[in-house]
Amino acid sequence: MDVVLIGAGNVGTVLGRTFKQANHSIKAIWNRHPEKARLLADELGTVAIETLDELPPTADLFLLSVSDRSISEIAHQLKIQQGVLVHAAGAVSKEVLQGAAENHGVFWPMKMIRSHMQSLGPCAIMIDANNEHSLQVIYELATTISDQVHEADDAKRLKMHLIAAITSNFTNHLYHLAADYSREQAIDFSWFYPLIEGVMAQIKTEHPQNVQAGPAFRGDRITIEKHRSLLAHEPSLLRIYDEMTQSILNKFGHQ
Ligand SMILES: NC(=O)c1ccc[n+]([C@@H]2O[C@H](COP(=O)([O-])OP(=O)(O)OC[C@H]3O[C@@H](n4cnc5c(N)ncnc54)[C@H](OP(=O)(O)O)[C@@H]3O)[C@@H](O)[C@H]2O)c1
Repeated sequence: MDVVLIGAGNVGTVLGRTFKQANHSIKAIWNRHPEKARLLADELGTVAIETLDELPPTADLFLLSVSDRSISEIAHQLKIQQGVLVHAAGAVSKEVLQGAAENHGVFWPMKMIRSHMQSLGPCAIMIDANNEHSLQVIYELATTISDQVHEADDAKRLKMHLIAAITSNFTNHLYHLAADYSREQAIDFSWFYPLIEGVMAQIKTEHPQNVQAGPAFRGDRITIEKHRSLLAHEPSLLRIYDEMTQSILNKFGHQ
């Protein structure tokens, strides 16, 4: 397929590389700061364009991958004649593209993506569209780079975005806090990798409820108090510890 990239940030860069690896053709790249578009165009063997007016009039798909807050602003400057316009955001309605292209939708790769990644790798892609034709084009493209392509409308995607924040962003924040505490206590955080990976592996086949462990799960208030005393001078970590502990106590009937 012919693809035009509007935005050369993390997603534009990595999807651009991935589309090219899947033998799609990148027709042109635009980015607000043009040097980024030029760099990516050189890498992908295509052209960088300086203004949105110079966008190719036709392509199979136009990928608008700019920050969530600027999707609507850029969409207002677009008038796609032929081709499907998609954005890549989980928490933004497809409706914002309505005036910019007759055929439009969403192409949301559900993964943390950073420009240094050479390819998208395993990734579920959530797609949505305003009509059957657009959905078919988006589906065909998505299935060339992922074997997990699912349809999710605006309401479902927003809920999925929330679940992604809890399962990925929140757990990573806990790793961050734990890694900082480990470093302060001169404990090697890598020693915890098998523990972390063990839980990740088990929740693929078991409900997370069946994988829960720890003092709050057992209702072991003596150990909980020992942990709390270690955090006496870490008020923000103690608040999180108490919230998490209370939630686990409640779930397992230790009120
Ligand atoms: N990264 C992820 O993990 C991820 C995963 C799934 C979906 N997404 C979605 O993908 C989209 C792009 O995310 P990203 O991570 O690729 O973003 P990013 O790397 O932070 O890059 C932001 C892009 O938006 C452009 N931009 C910001 N404000 C702009 C404005 N006012 N006018 C024009 N362009 C503007 C930037 O242009 P400049 O380079 O000129 O600043 C840059 O191209 C978002 O909708 C995001 O929700 C991201």
